Amino acid sequence: MKKNPQTELIHAPRKAPQYVSTVQPPLYRASTIIFENTNALFNRHWTDDYDYSYGTHGTPTTFTLGDNIAQIEGGLHHLLAPSGLSAINLVNACFLNHGDEVWVADNIYGPNMEHLRNLEKRYGVMVKVYNPIDVDSFAPSNKTKLIWLEAAGSVTLEFPNLVGLVKKAQAHNVLTALDNTWGAGIAFNAFDFSTEHLSVDITVHALTKYPSGGGDILMGSVVTRDKKLHHQLFRAHAIQGISISGDDAAQVQRSLSSMRLRYEHQSRSALQLLDWLKQQKQFVQVLHPADEQSSGHNYWKEICTEQHSAGLVSVVFDPKYTLEDIRTFCDALTLFKLGFSWGGPVSLVMLYNLKEMRVLEHSHIKTGLLVRFCIGLEHPADLIQDIENALQHLNKQQFE
Ligand SMILES: Cc1ncc(COP(=O)(O)O)c(C=O)c1O
Repeated sequence: MKKNPQTELIHAPRKAPQYVSTVQPPLYRASTIIFENTNALFNRHWTDDYDYSYGTHGTPTTFTLGDNIAQIEGGLHHLLAPSGLSAINLVNACFLNHGDEVWVADNIYGPNMEHLRNLEKRYGVMVKVYNPIDVDSFAPSNKTKLIWLEAAGSVTLEFPNLVGLVKKAQAHNVLTALDNTWGAGIAFNAFDFSTEHLSVDITVHALTKYPSGGGDILMGSVVTRDKKLHHQLFRAHAIQGISISGDDAAQVQRSLSSMRLRYEHQSRSALQLLDWLKQQKQFVQVLHPADEQSSGHNYWKEICTEQHSAGLVSVVFDPKYTLEDIRTFCDALTLFKLGFSWGGPVSLVMLYNLKEMRVLEHSHIKTGLLVRFCIGLEHPADLIQDIENALQHLNKQQFE
């Protein structure tokens, strides 16, 4: 029976014919998912990993992306979240209860520490801080539930003793969660990273960085190989209504095929910058896990290869330079833009005052203000030139 034009428009057939094939998977956008009949409605199990019931649980687009992320990281089960930080929070909210102890590396991503401090204040979770390169500083008790690992750590880029820390955690029945954003599943396999086939329990990945690669999308993932852990996380994910947009998932999916090439290119560029930065007299320390003098270098060498060291390098300025001087330097850069994040096409710079960021004493990092460079996809020679020009600005100021 002929319907009114408005109804015809809304109910027009939408399925592509079977023979249509495209390079990228089709994009599904959904809040409502339409059931074929009441049988399908009553037989659904929303706790199934690939249940199609409602947009928050997922669509073929988000499941495809999650499968790919899990595969890249060496995991089996996945959940996606609207940012890296919300993926971190999902793990904390799922496993930490009143009276539980959680250990965090002193160089952990700052907002994770802030989130945990908030849980400590409001819900009586106890937060303990360890030195990532000193296994002895991690002293689990029978209250310890979780340890957060990050390799390499944020800003100061020390590579932790992953082998030692994971072995100790396992011996004490402590869950291990790794922020895998730096390694991106490329630098090492978090689920099989030593000759003894050690594995962390959970990885969290800020897909905002290398997987997105554009500097324009926020997203996070939580990956495990353990079905039981995954189901705990799955429930927490579902009841908190954590979900991502199909459009964002399709964009990240599109970037995944070039991720390894971008990662390797940015790693190589960072190594070139590292060599050059080490020769500049304005810096008293250059921090990069592939540098022999950087803390945790041997632990990095144990599990990563040279071409897989990401695109981040930090420098500590000679203490004779004031904050004003460092601001002058940063403002004089033209290719490096002042901004948070990394993994995109544009190189970024950010300045930090370590004294305000760390809980423990750090004899391995020299005093002075620190600047982190995040290498984009520009030619490394141009990036070096940009820093050289900005340094000249700084030197000029010293003579005035
Ligand atoms: C190591 C690390 N983990 C997690 C995050 C959080 O990611 P997002 O910005 O997507 O919340 C960041 C962001 O800078 C990060 O550097």
